[in-house]
Amino acid sequence: MDLEQHLYWHSHKITKQDRQYVHGHKSYVLWFTGLSGSGKSTLANALECELYQLGLSTYILDGDNVRHGLNSDLSFSEHDRKENIRRIGEVCKLFVDAGCIVLTAFISPYREERKKVRKLLREGEFIEIYVNCPLETCEKRDPKGLYALAREGKIKNFTGISSEYEPPINPEIIVDTDEKSIQENVDDIIQYLLDKRLL
Ligand code: ADX
Repeated sequence: MDLEQHLYWHSHKITKQDRQYVHGHKSYVLWFTGLSGSGKSTLANALECELYQLGLSTYILDGDNVRHGLNSDLSFSEHDRKENIRRIGEVCKLFVDAGCIVLTAFISPYREERKKVRKLLREGEFIEIYVNCPLETCEKRDPKGLYALAREGKIKNFTGISSEYEPPINPEIIVDTDEKSIQENVDDIIQYLLDKRLL
């Protein structure tokens, strides 16, 4: 039996706009992408603290955390990384529909998959933030000791070492965590949101 033939879309009375009105702000995704150790989670955390202080409804989706639950069945093969991002994209869409500001911290190495998430959302709802940091710096930081293991060949398909990372070509925001402090980067992102009337 083809299940899809028996599925119908329900339109509910309360809309995304109604929920945004209750939250008091627009809803959108702040999509951090970059190498492991580039500072995605640190930045998302610091930014969320500031948005929380402003009374906004936020939620962080973080690679390491989501891979403990929803995506615990996925590996780091190309196929599974794509599925990882596809699922996260759908979750983001739900959060945006719920009226929240979502901050995501996934390596999300493939341009095409990030583009697919952008397409799931409306114009202006997907804000791609490239966390730019040279591989050498990420490797020096090596907060989880994973680069060392990858160099020893103990972790396969490690991004930047044995698996590719495709930097965004035209992201909404680029932050540089090698040269700038976390606070400077958070301030830059907040300034962007203010300029776009998203705060
Ligand atoms: S993604 O490529 O599928 O977007 P995701 O952001 O969910 O990756 O997970 C990345 C995190 O998983 C890294 O920060 C690191 O802690 C851990 N990790 C474990 N194995 C790998 C690997 N082979 N490549 C990259 N990160 C890995």
